Amino acid sequence: MEKQKILIVDDSEMNRILLTDILEGQYEVTEAKNGREAVEILSETETDFWFVLLDIMMPEMDGFAVLRYIKGQRWQDRVVVMMISSDDSPENISRAYGLGAFDYIGRPFDPMIVRKRIANTLLLYARQHDLENTVREQFLEQQKNNDLMISILSHIVEFRNGESGVHIQNVKTITELLLRRLAWHTDSYDLTDEKIALISMASAIHDVGKISIPEEILNKPGKLTPEEFEIMKTHAKIGADMLSDLPLDQAQLPLVKVAYEICRWHHERYDGRGYPDGLKGEEIPIAAQVVSLADVYDALTSQRCYKKAFTHEQAMAMIQAGQCGAFHPMLLQCLKDVSDKLRPPAAGVGAEAAGSAGGRANRII
Ligand code: C2E
Ligand code: SIN
Ligand code: SIN
Ligand code: FE
Ligand code: FE
Repeated sequence: MEKQKILIVDDSEMNRILLTDILEGQYEVTEAKNGREAVEILSETETDFWFVLLDIMMPEMDGFAVLRYIKGQRWQDRVVVMMISSDDSPENISRAYGLGAFDYIGRPFDPMIVRKRIANTLLLYARQHDLENTVREQFLEQQKNNDLMISILSHIVEFRNGESGVHIQNVKTITELLLRRLAWHTDSYDLTDEKIALISMASAIHDVGKISIPEEILNKPGKLTPEEFEIMKTHAKIGADMLSDLPLDQAQLPLVKVAYEICRWHHERYDGRGYPDGLKGEEIPIAAQVVSLADVYDALTSQRCYKKAFTHEQAMAMIQAGQCGAFHPMLLQCLKDVSDKLRPPAAGVGAEAAGSAGGRANRII
């Protein structure tokens, strides 16, 4: 195992030799003559974690200045400081703690005690570090599982619709683009990175309720009769019911809650003339508003069993003209803003170039 790095900062050579003597068997020891040298070493050495023994009174840059610097650089997670000083007046000690020192040892000290305190501190930090890593790994693993299950679920729906998995991926990508742009315009929806990831992930199951729509209606090549369309419209409420029917502990998970909003309200209209509930304006949760727009754009530019694909330009014009629902004006602006990223690559431009230009990767029309 690699030895833990310890930096001894003291202007007295005697003190440095003494401390190095005590510690070098167990640790990899580096020495600095003053605060300035210490700061240079801390910023230049590639390491996750530094343990620093810091004297207070030093020429050039004293111990307090070093503490202030560490705080200013936000290195607190990577640099742990133990003060060692003979000036153990209460003012000094409290000032050191105030500036973020982890511990304080007065001089003269007992070598055994110094060793023990350093070892204990490092043990504590190692445990905390392990714990944080475990939590992060569990979170990522969970995220991967969620993604996988949602992907399987949405593919079942798409498979029955006789379509490839491209639609789901597109709605997800457009949803994320729109949300990022929306967050840039306003902070009234509290769109953190986590929330954007959650909504985008949940967007994949917006049409899960179509699983209960009879095959003849779902895949009817032509236009639906009014009666058939009434049945088709039930997919929104049915999808939501499927989610709210989950056991309570699952139904209350953030991902499921946002998926519920999306399933139920992705065919509402900002003017209140949508379905199933006729919600109006901001009564419609923002997740559903955004997915609705992403869904319409993607439906227009894709070929369906009942329609041909429109071009990007046609789709943009139809949406802005209000032919495909009514949307929050700010969302329409967001759609315009990201238009270049939605437009399929021009003929002759390879998929790779389109990808690096921010185009949608799996776009197939
Ligand atoms: P979808 O195909 O994903 O379409 C989603 C929404 O995009 C539609 O919601 C509509 O707002 C918009 N949209 C799609 N294609 C067009 C179009 O050619 N022109 C215009 N102006 N808007 C379009 P909507 O209307 O509530 O439909 C919900 C779902 O019902 C559709 O999802 C589709 O699965 C089905 N559907 C709608 N009309 C027909 C149809 O005439 N034939 C068949 N077989 N299915 C239909
Ligand atoms: C280090 O870990 O090298 C010190 C702090 C830093 O460079 O960020
Ligand atoms: C599909 O699920 O692929 C078609 C219907 C829709 O996107 O709403
Ligand atoms: Fe739908
Ligand atoms: Fe859809």
